[in-house]
Amino acid sequence: ATERTLSIIKPDAVAKNVIGEIYSRFEKAGLRIVAARMIHLSQEQAEGFYAEHKERPFFGDLVSFMTSGPVMIQVLEGEDAVIKNRDLMGATNPAQADAGTIRADFAQSIDENAVHGSDSVESAAREVAFFFTEDQLCSRTR
Ligand code: CMP
Repeated sequence: ATERTLSIIKPDAVAKNVIGEIYSRFEKAGLRIVAARMIHLSQEQAEGFYAEHKERPFFGDLVSFMTSGPVMIQVLEGEDAVIKNRDLMGATNPAQADAGTIRADFAQSIDENAVHGSDSVESAAREVAFFFTEDQLCSRTR
């Protein structure tokens, strides 16, 4: 089915100047960028976005990393977009990511792992709505 998923290019990858290379991978996989914005997340935004991880030991480091520099946030749309984006990203820990995935090629550690992608259609809906209103999506399904 045609789905949407939320993608974030994290501060490490923005600093490395590889936004375009990562966008190319989305496009080559048949995913369309239907909304995008670059922002420097506030602490409140980062804590709110990652609220489900609040009790995890890495939460503090995650929030400080995600607020350390600008991020590029986009909504990807296409057939099976959620799993397609997760396949492109590779495993959360880049040391375990398959060769040729975004994290294998651009990430250095589980904390600085280049990209975020929604893990299900349900979390995608919540995550897209966290950053975009419906009228900001230039979606083909509207
Ligand atoms: P992300 O997909 O953005 O979701 C939460 C992030 O927490 C994850 O990517 C990792 O960058 C980071 N993180 C750090 N340690 C862990 C861990 N042990 N398990 C899962 N995520 C972790």
